[in-house]
Amino acid sequence: MDDARLEELVAAAKQARGRAYAPYSHYHVGAAIATKSGRVFAGCNVENASYGACLCAERNAIGQMVAAGETAPVACVVVTKGPRGGSPCGICRQVLSEFAREMRVVLIGAADDGTEEGRRETTIAELLPDAFEGSSLPE
Ligand code: THU
Repeated sequence: MDDARLEELVAAAKQARGRAYAPYSHYHVGAAIATKSGRVFAGCNVENASYGACLCAERNAIGQMVAAGETAPVACVVVTKGPRGGSPCGICRQVLSEFAREMRVVLIGAADDGTEEGRRETTIAELLPDAFEGSSLPE
């Protein structure tokens, strides 16, 4: 993915963060996934008064991707507040891992106005080594 495409993905994740529904934690998260075909799918976190029903931004973006008929993500950008950017939770790592172990993951910390404070890059394979995979299940 070239730099211009990556910045498009970053912009989509920032826009999605602006739509986060997080009245309980006040922690707003935006995620954007690019697929092999070149499409972009974004998601934000969606909280609930029943806390266990909260949906993370990354899984929301994965849901948008799958509902659109796509299953081959190549990169995922996650935008949160703070100097380093938050790392995906364990459940999101597992869900992202289902589709692409080598997926590029870019974690960005940005102020509310979008000004970046930090950016780091990793992969799902690095974030979730030895993941549980469908191949472990009986036929
Ligand atoms: N959250 C995400 O959206 N992604 C993560 O990987 C970590 C946590 C959300 C869930 C909840 O709405 C809020 O952040 C605080 O946990």
